[in-house]
Amino acid sequence: MPATAVVGAQWGDEAKGKIVHLLAREAQVCVRFNGGPNAGHTVSDAFGTARLHLVPSGALYPHCRGVIAHGVVVDPWALEGELGELKAQGRSQPRLFLSERCHLILPHHRVLEEEEGTAARLGTTRRGVGPAYTERTARQGLRLADLRHPGHVRERLEELARRVGGFDPHAVARELSRFWEGWSSSIGDAQGLIGDALDRGEHVVFEGAQGTLLDLDFGTYPYVTSSTTTVHGVGWGTGLRVELDRVVGVTKAYTTRVGEGPFPTEDHGAVGEWLRRKGNEYGATTGRPRRCGWLDLVALRYAHRLNRFSELALTKLDVLSGLEEVKICTSYRVGGRRVEEFPATVEELAQAEPIYQTLRGWKEELARARSPEELPERTRAFLTWVENAVGVKIQWVSVGPGTDDVIVL
Ligand code: IMP
Repeated sequence: MPATAVVGAQWGDEAKGKIVHLLAREAQVCVRFNGGPNAGHTVSDAFGTARLHLVPSGALYPHCRGVIAHGVVVDPWALEGELGELKAQGRSQPRLFLSERCHLILPHHRVLEEEEGTAARLGTTRRGVGPAYTERTARQGLRLADLRHPGHVRERLEELARRVGGFDPHAVARELSRFWEGWSSSIGDAQGLIGDALDRGEHVVFEGAQGTLLDLDFGTYPYVTSSTTTVHGVGWGTGLRVELDRVVGVTKAYTTRVGEGPFPTEDHGAVGEWLRRKGNEYGATTGRPRRCGWLDLVALRYAHRLNRFSELALTKLDVLSGLEEVKICTSYRVGGRRVEEFPATVEELAQAEPIYQTLRGWKEELARARSPEELPERTRAFLTWVENAVGVKIQWVSVGPGTDDVIVL
């Protein structure tokens, strides 16, 4: 299976990092194609827990090369900090390659994010991601390739410091030169590298960041991130037409969201609290408590429609153990009408009242289960219900944070 994409089916935080890491066991290349250090992909293995923001999850394996494609906005300081943390865990340095066409996140992007009010209004991760993509579209950005021309970089930084302020252009120019010295041999034609790997029949995993409902166009606009988070991001963010053999959608057994924006199944009561506590639902990038609620099949069917998943990975199923009943949202009621399709506007979505199917819960903890036979009858009934309602097979179920806490169905 040479080309596999892993995409979030919800509002991010679906535990994609863990699924990518699992799929990359036999991969030669793992590619990040969208987003930036706003992502927080968690992988727990023998070295401990790695919280990855820019490094592709598969690149934790010495046999797997990590590629940061041009769709990703790169913060050199964040990247070096992340690599430092991995080193401190005793890991070998990942083999990374970065597209020379990647746009840079610079200090003024964070300043702009606060000043323009998007950080507070949308509840962003405050990593400067939105302003970096904005400058890219406005054709004002700096790309990694520009670091070959320090004079040009200096001029641009001086101009930005005059206009936006908040940083010392000379200090930033010096740091970027230092970054270039260390990294220039690992920056170049990423689409060539990925294309050659695919031509050789190597196994390449494309690692999506955020989730379908945070997609710039198809998410809950304007409460979205600024990149293409669906499977279409593979083309958008690498520049290649990739014939994907598998498109794995990752969903939790329930729903979470961080930041602002409508969330029909959000539970402000005991169930929300249960999910947050048992699921340890705090942001990997910002530490913010996540908003929690039941699984939303209107949203999941919509994600399947857009991404045409070949299979699903359902994560954090263990968190539901001990609940008397488990609910699944099957449709919405909007203004007295029953709605099966995910609305295009946040105004409609904010009015959507979930209509639930209630299933009986199960008491048994699942952390030790390693085969479908070890799952309680009611848990299997829940999985079958979801599979049938979405129309796609659940291939993996994750029942704990570790790499091996996975059941193949
Ligand atoms: P930004 O991507 O930092 O601009 O944030 C825009 C929205 O996307 C906010 O609601 C963030 O909380 C959300 N977001 C961005 N990245 C992630 C992620 O990796 N997981 C979950 N939410 C995210």
